[in-house]
Amino acid sequence: MRIVGPTGTGKTHQAYGAIRTLLAAGVRLRWEAITAADLYARLRPRPGFDSERDLQSLMRCPLLLLDDLGAAKTSEWTEELTYRLINHRYEHLRPTLITSNLTTDTLRAALGDRVASRLAQMTERVTLDGDDRRRTRPAA
Ligand SMILES: Nc1ncnc2c1ncn2[C@@H]1O[C@H](COP(=O)(O)OP(=O)(O)OP(=O)(O)O)[C@@H](O)[C@H]1O
Ligand SMILES: [Mg+2]
Repeated sequence: MRIVGPTGTGKTHQAYGAIRTLLAAGVRLRWEAITAADLYARLRPRPGFDSERDLQSLMRCPLLLLDDLGAAKTSEWTEELTYRLINHRYEHLRPTLITSNLTTDTLRAALGDRVASRLAQMTERVTLDGDDRRRTRPAA
């Protein structure tokens, strides 16, 4: 599932809600949630750290929430990393939840045709619209 829509419309909230519903229904699986920005920071190559192993673990994770895809600054490296992660999950039919602010066209521009094409096939798009809940909520 790919939840898209403007900022603050509740995409992350809904994605965690979906995971909670699965767990509450008794589905027992290993799941991980990470924002795309954290993913790139975590896997950045650095001495003494095997980022390949970390990437493999995310590739194989039975349920992955990739939050805010397309929000982080992109580069050839992030494009390649995203491609490897998405392609692996695509080929192995691993359930993947995506949230993104980007429309299909801007996602394609940010992450490349190969990622966009796989996402279009492997995820069902759900669009949230409405106001930014962070702004419209009364101050506590
Ligand atoms: N259904 C809901 N009921 C009550 N509060 C909600 C609901 N959905 C979201 N919120 C609250 O609204 C705020 C924004 O929600 P959330 O972080 O899920 O938005 P988002 O679409 O992921 O935003 P962004 O694109 O900036 O990541 C959060 O404080 C969240 O707790
Ligand atoms: Mg969010």
